[in-house]
Amino acid sequence: MPAKQRVLTGITTTGTPHLGNYLGALKPAIEASQQDQNDSFYFMADYHALIKCQDPQTVHRSCRDIAAIWLALGLDTDSATFYRQSDIPEIPQLAWLLTCMTPKGMMNRAHAYKASVDENTRQGKVDIDDGVSMGLFSYPILMSADILMFNAHQIPVGKDQIQHIEMCRDIAARFNHAFGEHFVLPEAMVFEGDAKVLSGLDGRKMSKSYGNIIPLLAPADELQRLIGQIKTNSLMPGEPKDPDTCTLFETYAAFATAQQTKAIRQRYAEGIAWGDMKRELFEFLNDHLHGARDNYNRIIADPGFIEAELQKGAAKAREYTVPFMDRLRAAVGIMPLNDNVQVSTAVSKAKKQLSSEEQAKADAGKAKALAIAKEREAQEQALVSQRVAAIQGQWQADGGTPESLAEYCLQLEQEISQAKKKARKQLQQVLQAVQALA
Ligand code: TRP
Repeated sequence: MPAKQRVLTGITTTGTPHLGNYLGALKPAIEASQQDQNDSFYFMADYHALIKCQDPQTVHRSCRDIAAIWLALGLDTDSATFYRQSDIPEIPQLAWLLTCMTPKGMMNRAHAYKASVDENTRQGKVDIDDGVSMGLFSYPILMSADILMFNAHQIPVGKDQIQHIEMCRDIAARFNHAFGEHFVLPEAMVFEGDAKVLSGLDGRKMSKSYGNIIPLLAPADELQRLIGQIKTNSLMPGEPKDPDTCTLFETYAAFATAQQTKAIRQRYAEGIAWGDMKRELFEFLNDHLHGARDNYNRIIADPGFIEAELQKGAAKAREYTVPFMDRLRAAVGIMPLNDNVQVSTAVSKAKKQLSSEEQAKADAGKAKALAIAKEREAQEQALVSQRVAAIQGQWQADGGTPESLAEYCLQLEQEISQAKKKARKQLQQVLQAVQALA
């Protein structure tokens, strides 16, 4: 039987999951956990919450609410490993090892950080890093630690997180390159339902930061009120309407079967009134969600039960993370001192056992290898210099601006991330020299 695929995803505990989170992450994750070939790891990312939220009450409550939602949606915590990030101290420990392997330039390109810089620039601020914490800046590293700590293969995420998974792969590859093959390179698992990001009340992408969300388990009256607020156009009842530009239809279709969607599409053609469509959508969603909402209300009233579930998950998770973290620490050279002594005595013992003839042979071999290596290095250096000169020439022809230089550096970094071990070293030298042109 092939080894199980490890599926892992987390939700930042700063609010209430909305319909978009449900379709993009929760629902597919729960479905994945029900398949035999998968081994699932789902968690509350409460350390991530601190990046954008300094309100302890919100962080605490949101962790409880999100845990209750997973349970209400029917996550089976015996088959899946369900835990709270902060219960696994090995995760922030790993985050530090990874931080030391992550180029700062890569973090400069992370979306969340870039969005802050762009906003500061737009506002004409002198300090483009205004309001940016190191937590925000290095957020993709903590996320990488979440993933690599369990050597997960598949990461169900919304489209906005794809870049972070790519960064995670890059960081994992760097670590493997330096310290041996410890990490699996993960893949983002983006679901079809999320191919188009769900729209919010105002027609923009549904997002906490736009304040346009419909909470997944909103009470029926709130659900109805929010659906009432979804923006429509001014077409009158009886006038044919375009479903494909309508948030009501989009939301309906995201939950409906192909047949149900087809039927509603027909009613748009027949000119369904907006008020009627809003009622249809409310009833449809309410039918879909009220079972989970009832479960949720029951579970949230019993925080002791939620806590016990999380403790069970943490114990299960740490059976894996504690030994793995020991191995990773040892890989970078952090281990009990007597282990180190054993390693070095073993090596010198092996050396002593060589006869003088063998020793002479070994020395000659070493000298030859050294000469070859030297010559090779000289050749490589020549290649590096040629490449740097070529880029410098092109760059100057382009006008020699810092922006175009940054572009060349970016291309090089991409090449580096795809290059084999040896080529990568050379390319890194090229990159350093090109960066120094600035
Ligand atoms: N950053 C993710 C989000 O905001 C949450 C998250 C944290 C995550 N760690 C993760 C998702 C690891 C997948 C895997 O949506």
